[in-house]
Amino acid sequence: MATQAKPRLDPETAYEVISPESYAHWDPLLDTFDRLREEAPVAWVEDPEGRHPPFWLVTRYDDVMRISKDNATFLNNPQTVVFSLTEGIEFAKNLTGGSPHMVASLVTFDAPIHMKYRKLTQEWFMPKNLRQIEDEVRELAHKTVDRLLEAGPEADFCKLVSQPYPLHVVMQILGVPEEDEPRMLMLTQQMFGGQDEDLNQSGMKDLPPEAITQLVAGAVKDFEAYFAKLTAEKRANPTDDVASTIANATVDGEPLNDRDMMGYYIIVAAAGHDTTSASTAGAMLALAQDPEQWARVREDRSLLPGIVEEAIRWTSPVQHFMRTAAEDTEVGGQEIAEGDWLMINYVAANHDPAQFDNPRKFDASRSPNRHLAFGAGAHQCLGLHLARLEMRILFEALLDRIETVELAGEPARSKSTFVGGLKTLPLRFTPA
Ligand code: HEM
Repeated sequence: MATQAKPRLDPETAYEVISPESYAHWDPLLDTFDRLREEAPVAWVEDPEGRHPPFWLVTRYDDVMRISKDNATFLNNPQTVVFSLTEGIEFAKNLTGGSPHMVASLVTFDAPIHMKYRKLTQEWFMPKNLRQIEDEVRELAHKTVDRLLEAGPEADFCKLVSQPYPLHVVMQILGVPEEDEPRMLMLTQQMFGGQDEDLNQSGMKDLPPEAITQLVAGAVKDFEAYFAKLTAEKRANPTDDVASTIANATVDGEPLNDRDMMGYYIIVAAAGHDTTSASTAGAMLALAQDPEQWARVREDRSLLPGIVEEAIRWTSPVQHFMRTAAEDTEVGGQEIAEGDWLMINYVAANHDPAQFDNPRKFDASRSPNRHLAFGAGAHQCLGLHLARLEMRILFEALLDRIETVELAGEPARSKSTFVGGLKTLPLRFTPA
């Protein structure tokens, strides 16, 4: 391949797009993405601290879409997220006996194995099947709103609603008993929020990368111990929940091995709630800042699906995934060499003005709203129908039972480059 000059990011910008801290203060980061989309839409990032391998940062919607859909040229292996620090990769290899992934799951598989595993639960997550759990989800939504109303008239929406509710739903579909949910919440937050001192349960600011890696490895081990017990139960007494589907699944006529089975539970348990929490809190923030819109949706529930979809775009809780080029190729006119690592940045893509008018505005009537928050292509979010259903049902309950809502303090975002969003949202409200 003819060599083309690499548009290298200056060290300050490179640090900004990698640092978990930047994702806690979104506006300046969105400004940087706006600049990059114009000046260097496919930019070469070298970590000034040398902790991550270099990668291409892709910020335009069309380029992120193209990479996401071309799963033959852009592979999920060997590394799917940027916080796979160089030390972390070595650590995972030692821990797993050679694999760079601490957990083997759908997001770490490529064709042909990926589809075989995905098909095991795909039906379960389709709208037709999800109708069966609607009543249970509605009951959970109302119980959650009960707790909010009891705590009112001022409360942290994240603590009382947006964090516990999706966790209850995903634990219910996995068949995890309610008394074990706090443990599951802690483990997920350690896995996804390892970089944020409020979420990683260490209480320590600026944990060194080795300590974060240890923390994540500890959470994975604990998850595995828990789900090993659950598998035995679901094999002995299968029900129609998703955990029974996984425990009793076969691929090419063989039951899943322990590592793959644990990875399946972990991806559903972990991917299924922090993401939905972040979008739910984002929707509530937007509505609390716009009392007229709250009153309008209370009157006209046909606006609700638009609110849900726009919240998912506006918050883009999964902030990036990584891909690796399987061959020499090109993205947005930039040559990419076989083996190069690429960051598809969903936050940047979902704020691309070429695709979305006035992208920073929360606009529930946005149409079309073909956002990339759920990804695209073979790995597109397996739980997207569930996430939409959960949010719609929760907001129906909130709109029925809360007349007015407003901010009662400063909201705060988590420090995380991977999955992120609001971690506190103080609200004041009046019951209906
Ligand atoms: C608003 C909420 C959610 C968002 C924004 C979100 C976002 C994403 C994204 C961006 C991906 C990767 C897509 C790609 O590589 O193209 C993904 C994959 C995945 N999501 Fe979600 N997700 C959400 C909720 C859920 C829920 C509720 C579940 C299940 C209970 C779930 C389960 C999964 C799984 C299993 C995958 C891996 C799919 C594969 O690799 O084949 N997600 N999600």
